[in-house]
Amino acid sequence: MKNSHNKFTTITDAWRNAYGKDYEEGLHFLLNTSDLLERDIERICLEISEKRPIQYIIGNWDFYNGNYEVNSDILIPRPETETLIEHIENSELQPKSILDLGTGSGCIAIELSKIFPKATVDAVDLSIRAISIAKKNAKNNNARVRFLISNWYQKVSLKYDLIVSNPPYLDKSVNFNDSLKFEPEEAIFSGENGLKDLRIIISHSKNYLNYGGIIFLEHSPEQNKIIRNLFNKSGFRDVTSIKDLKRRERFTFGKL
Ligand SMILES: C[S@@+](CC[C@H](N)C(=O)[O-])C[C@H]1O[C@@H](n2cnc3c(N)ncnc32)[C@H](O)[C@@H]1O
Repeated sequence: MKNSHNKFTTITDAWRNAYGKDYEEGLHFLLNTSDLLERDIERICLEISEKRPIQYIIGNWDFYNGNYEVNSDILIPRPETETLIEHIENSELQPKSILDLGTGSGCIAIELSKIFPKATVDAVDLSIRAISIAKKNAKNNNARVRFLISNWYQKVSLKYDLIVSNPPYLDKSVNFNDSLKFEPEEAIFSGENGLKDLRIIISHSKNYLNYGGIIFLEHSPEQNKIIRNLFNKSGFRDVTSIKDLKRRERFTFGKL
């Protein structure tokens, strides 16, 4: 009992040294980690002192209706991305086939496969390590998703009713929150002012969508206008943008 009390105190002290009283929510999450007392407390304190994201310290994180193993090989699933899932779930869409481009932890593909159990769901990522975690996450969430290592559409040979993607879209030259340095660069940054990967995904999407199919992308609020133009130029109809939790236009979809 005394030992566990000491461990909690040691972690709390390390936390307060790193964050003061500014981020009590993170401490709360950490102290509620079920197997905390069996873990290497010294290592945890070191990670706290580096200000490693709490999700990586804990090693798993909730996203929509699932729990996901996370480590520094994949982007931490973000609450704003849940808006994309929520919108699709509450829409009229009944896709029979879904493709998730840049799946990372697998969170989008896995949650959509639970919402549409009859749909076939494929998911690609360029990172072998990401695909390996995504496969584990699919197993832990009892989801049926086919994972492919692919540079965007390169290994994709089918057409889909729905393509979704949360690709890297930040410009590297802009100063961002320090905690991003713990996440894989290739998951976050893209060339051409952050638009390079979005452009590739949009410009080839017609070849991989069934007629009437939908493409649904996450992007930065600043990219909204450009993305809408790209959708229009590529021949998509009913181009619509959706706001994130902070009321910023963060997602755009269009119909073929
Ligand atoms: C912003 S993360 C999104 C991860 C996950 N879908 C999510 O929403 O949390 C972007 C993902 O795209 C992958 N990626 C980057 N470039 C890629 C490429 N050329 N082809 C396929 N995937 C790529 C990264 O490895 C990363 O997993």
